[in-house]
Amino acid sequence: MGFSIAVTSGKGGVGKSSICIGLGVALAQAGFQVCLIDMDLGLKNLDVMMGLENRVFYDLMDVMEQRCSLNKAIIKDKHQQNLSLLPACKTMQTSQFNGDKFIRIVNELKNQFDYILMDTPAGIESGFLHAMHCADRMIVVTTLDVTALQDADRIIGLLMKENADKIQLIVNRCNPRYIEKGISVRLEEALNWLSIELLGIVYDEEMIVKGHNKGTPYVMDESSLTHECFKQIVATFLGEPIQIPKYRTKGFLQKFFMT
Ligand SMILES: Nc1ncnc2c1ncn2[C@@H]1O[C@H](COP(=O)(O)OP(=O)(O)O)[C@@H](O)[C@H]1O
Ligand SMILES: [Mg+2]
Repeated sequence: MGFSIAVTSGKGGVGKSSICIGLGVALAQAGFQVCLIDMDLGLKNLDVMMGLENRVFYDLMDVMEQRCSLNKAIIKDKHQQNLSLLPACKTMQTSQFNGDKFIRIVNELKNQFDYILMDTPAGIESGFLHAMHCADRMIVVTTLDVTALQDADRIIGLLMKENADKIQLIVNRCNPRYIEKGISVRLEEALNWLSIELLGIVYDEEMIVKGHNKGTPYVMDESSLTHECFKQIVATFLGEPIQIPKYRTKGFLQKFFMT
């Protein structure tokens, strides 16, 4: 029986979709069968970020409305054979979202996959909140910006009303230079503020943006710090003690050849 994880945030643009892809790739590399569900209608959808947009024929709404079978709508990733995607419906209104039907879809996916990762919209509305309750685990994503932390605090409060023990935190876009200069909040301060368990961090890395623009997620580069961060997050998720990978920047030559 599969395990479902909802990835959410208070503020938009903090990296939910990037975290979903990173976690999905790292879990798939660890040998698990993984399906991502795109529920977010942000600027960029998972299909584009994963380079799968030309392979989308059916989406989540088609499955919900029984216009196609679940298996017809699921697309296999090009690079990672254990990774699949159920794409978002680009025209879906939040009012059309049916929580009960969604939960049935997630339960059906649990028969085929080890992990189901849901990329949810930011600032949850009631239909989504309902759907979120079918998640076995909830991961809140934030950056170290004050506004992102404030919004994360609010969403954690909402989620905690029902499922306090199932929520974990990923801090994205950590930039040690910004922390040093006092532009970003320090990690310890953020953890004191939100007071939920930390699953791990991902450093700010411009290659992540480039990778998504090219449709080849940077986490797949096994020599990258991003890969190390997600591998560590998966290890912590699977029960190992938390470890924060040491920050390192690329040398000039390495940067030159990678761009
Ligand atoms: N760790 C990171 N380092 C640098 N850029 C990042 C990182 N995580 C996300 N981004 C970039 O930030 C933007 C927003 O990320 P995205 O995952 O789409 O956020 P959300 O799904 O929360 O709206 C994208 O351009 C993405 O490539
Ligand atoms: Mg998104």
